[in-house]
Amino acid sequence: MMSKWIIASFYQLFSQAEPYKFPDHFKFGVATSAYQIEGAWNVDGKGFHIWDMATHNQSHLILDGSNADITCNSYYKWEEDIDLIKNLGVDFYRFSISWARIFPDGYVTNKINQAGIDYYNKIINTLLEHNIEPVVTLYHWDLPQIFSPLGAWTNPAVIEHFASYARKMFQLFGDRVKMWITINEPRLVCQVFKGSIGDITPDFPLGIAEYLCAHNIVKAHAEAYHIYDKEFRHIQKGKISITVDMTWWLPENASSKEDVRLAEQNMQFDIGLYVNPILNYDYPKVVIDRVAERSRLEGFPESRLPKFSYQEKNRISGTYDFLGINHYFTMIVKASQEPPVSKSDIDIDSQGEKFRDPNWEPTGLEIFKVLPESLRNVLKWVKKTYHDPEIYITENGYADNREIIDDDERINYFRKYLNATVNAIIEDKVNVVAYTAWSLMDNFEWILGYEAKFGLYHVNFTDPNRSRTPKKSVEFFKRVTKTRTIN
Ligand code: NOJ
Repeated sequence: MMSKWIIASFYQLFSQAEPYKFPDHFKFGVATSAYQIEGAWNVDGKGFHIWDMATHNQSHLILDGSNADITCNSYYKWEEDIDLIKNLGVDFYRFSISWARIFPDGYVTNKINQAGIDYYNKIINTLLEHNIEPVVTLYHWDLPQIFSPLGAWTNPAVIEHFASYARKMFQLFGDRVKMWITINEPRLVCQVFKGSIGDITPDFPLGIAEYLCAHNIVKAHAEAYHIYDKEFRHIQKGKISITVDMTWWLPENASSKEDVRLAEQNMQFDIGLYVNPILNYDYPKVVIDRVAERSRLEGFPESRLPKFSYQEKNRISGTYDFLGINHYFTMIVKASQEPPVSKSDIDIDSQGEKFRDPNWEPTGLEIFKVLPESLRNVLKWVKKTYHDPEIYITENGYADNREIIDDDERINYFRKYLNATVNAIIEDKVNVVAYTAWSLMDNFEWILGYEAKFGLYHVNFTDPNRSRTPKKSVEFFKRVTKTRTIN
């Protein structure tokens, strides 16, 4: 009797220590984006986009003054890249199409660049030959340059051009691509880059540009969704949605009602501004009220936050088949004095003093920390706030700033964040169906240039051949995709 009890307790102890297994239908993937890896910026008929122009004309905006003219040279090395992806044993590859590589002028006309179409066809076909599903982002920040002087995403004219571009992509590739992401991280596009790229538009009126951009981006997403839904879905049978970056906001003092209120309010300004109109209805009430109040105090005749008409609200609401989430950041907020009313800024509208805890486990880069519980909290918050949608984690990853192959810190990061994901699935019953590691390989990290390295594979940027070398984390990730457990 006694020995039976001991065996049972031992078994229980042992089985609790066993890591959870990801469900059978769960998918693993790896991601990149066009400007960050392709290179070939001015060949084969590609047009220029806002990042080509900014890196060339205002290189001071980029930490190391670099650009992505060549970067990983994936325009020529795509076949080798697919071998690297294959080696990881992943189910899908998330990449983006460069709008200006297909429509060099930005406008959707008969001037379409066959070389661009051929390039993406080769990638899609080869992925499928190897049983790797293509997950395609239509807009990963590389807006054709032509729209820049018009105010980029702050101009509603971009909506119909984006919609026409999306239609063409469904026509060209939708027979084989079944997972579409319209727009990547609208908060970065609107709040950080002010609809274009921050400093190249220094005259953009703050506190106005961010909302005009959000308004147009949400509408552009909805238009692309409706085009897919009406014209393509019945034949192509794919899925389409948007990917939003989700910071987890913590109250400085969890027992202060005001700090707790501000944490939720900042979630709504960062996430709800884009997601609420799509997964619920209209902008979040707290955002509408707060911008209206602050605008009134600042002497504006109307709120700086544009209003959706009744028809628009209905047209936007429900335009998703799943929700894409990128997760990297955690922030703390505490109550603070209201700034003077002479200044407008979304950062003021969202309220509170915002900061990070210097004691959080660091990564190789200051702003990125290791806080896996934040991912789990974000997932739970999404489940609760948006009626339990199907979730794709479309990005999550670890940055270092050194040329290293033995990246034990990255393995530690993935281990913890994958664990948070599987816990959210099994213990919190969040409907997460995929996890995407950012990134396949080191690449051009926007304003951080080549100073931030997120790759599972190292890329030697001083070698004209841009040689790729697997880091230690490749072996780890392979074990995960193979065993569907974290070990
Ligand atoms: C999110 C962006 O989508 C991606 O382009 C970027 O490289 C990663 N965050 C890391 O910052």
